[in-house]
Amino acid sequence: MSDTIQKYKDHVMTGFLKSVAPIVIDHASGTAVWDDQGREYLDCFSGISVVNAGHNHPRVIAAAKAQLDKLVHCSSYLYHVKPVADLAEKIAQIAPHGLTKTFFGNGGAEAIEGAMKLARLYTGKHEFISLHASFHGRSWGTLSITGNQGRKKRGGPYAPGVSFAPVPYAYRSLWPNDPEQCARHCAKCLEDVIRFETSGDVAAFIAEPVLGEGGIIVPPKNYFREIKKVLDQHGILFIADEVQSGFGRTGKMFAIEHYGVDPDILVTAKGIADGFPLSAFTTRPEIADAYKPGDHLSTFGGNPVSCAAALANIEVLQDENLPARAAEIGDYAMRKLRELQKQNPVIGEVRGAGLMIGIELVRDEKLTPANSEAEAIRDALLKRGVLVGVGGVYGNVVRFQPPLIISKQQIEHGLNAFATALAEVAQPAAV
Ligand SMILES: Cc1ncc(COP(=O)(O)O)c(C=O)c1O
Repeated sequence: MSDTIQKYKDHVMTGFLKSVAPIVIDHASGTAVWDDQGREYLDCFSGISVVNAGHNHPRVIAAAKAQLDKLVHCSSYLYHVKPVADLAEKIAQIAPHGLTKTFFGNGGAEAIEGAMKLARLYTGKHEFISLHASFHGRSWGTLSITGNQGRKKRGGPYAPGVSFAPVPYAYRSLWPNDPEQCARHCAKCLEDVIRFETSGDVAAFIAEPVLGEGGIIVPPKNYFREIKKVLDQHGILFIADEVQSGFGRTGKMFAIEHYGVDPDILVTAKGIADGFPLSAFTTRPEIADAYKPGDHLSTFGGNPVSCAAALANIEVLQDENLPARAAEIGDYAMRKLRELQKQNPVIGEVRGAGLMIGIELVRDEKLTPANSEAEAIRDALLKRGVLVGVGGVYGNVVRFQPPLIISKQQIEHGLNAFATALAEVAQPAAV
């Protein structure tokens, strides 16, 4: 056994995972990563949807290195630091309408917590509504608004004042062939949740514009417009959790752009800095002004190196047209996968937006989740040199979320490997 794997066994906490993939990653570039034996893998998971511009993009690395030589940390909230200011200005230019002020943290959960706190301070209200099948982080506050028992188990009871509304997961709803009706039904349910489950003191509704960990669930086109009408009637803020869907991943800079709705607070992380740890939440000035001295801070938040990397990363996403490219390659991949679905009843649904693609595997017409098959496919793909993820509330969704720079040939290679793995693993277990 390799020294690194042995040290993990002895000294790294991993008990919260069934297993860690039995390889040691050594280095990476673009869509490729190499293990310490020199074996190359095609990365179709991007370190959980993070390296959108590709591993070690030369412009991102150069910006980070230049900043490293000047200043690593001096606390970006006690003093003014140029990369923080430049990045905040850039985000104001690309964020949905009117969102011009940003707070920087280190990871997704921290940013969600900050956004929740700000929403309460601004509205003077205290409750939250979130969605079934949602995932917002691993801290106690973010688990409290996470709609998935698989993530919450053994941690309850959670914060009071949180209610959950049905998610527009058309495939498993009563309207698999009429997603817009499913969305209207869910919006009506939100009315009922406000009326029957809350005390009428709701600060914010929080949702992922495309749900990631829940199984790449893409809400129907009309969903957020219907929801926004309800929220506006009740004076409830809309927090869009774009930790996973942001920065070009779904074919637009932010996934909420697909819906023609502006959130009140936009939360981002993962793809913001191409692998450097950074998160953010961005809002309108009048909401940002609800913070008063003493209300918030983060020691490491807005790290200058991460911010310099993030600025370069966003410029790369724009200059290389990566959101549009994600849309094009993603559509191509989903067409190919739907062709494969025709011969493979174990593929229940192929869905996604841009390069945020989920393949939901089922055992029968009752949609029994084929979760062990999904894991076996991931493991078979690893052996074939392709990295993918597995997720979903039932653990039966194979996730393709490669760097947005992936070429047609490369995605073709990943899809062919998937087809072979599917034939090897899933077919014998299917009907
Ligand atoms: C939508 C969403 N929100 C929040 C988080 C939490 O982010 P982090 O793991 O950086 O705390 C995640 C992580 O997967 C996520 O997908």
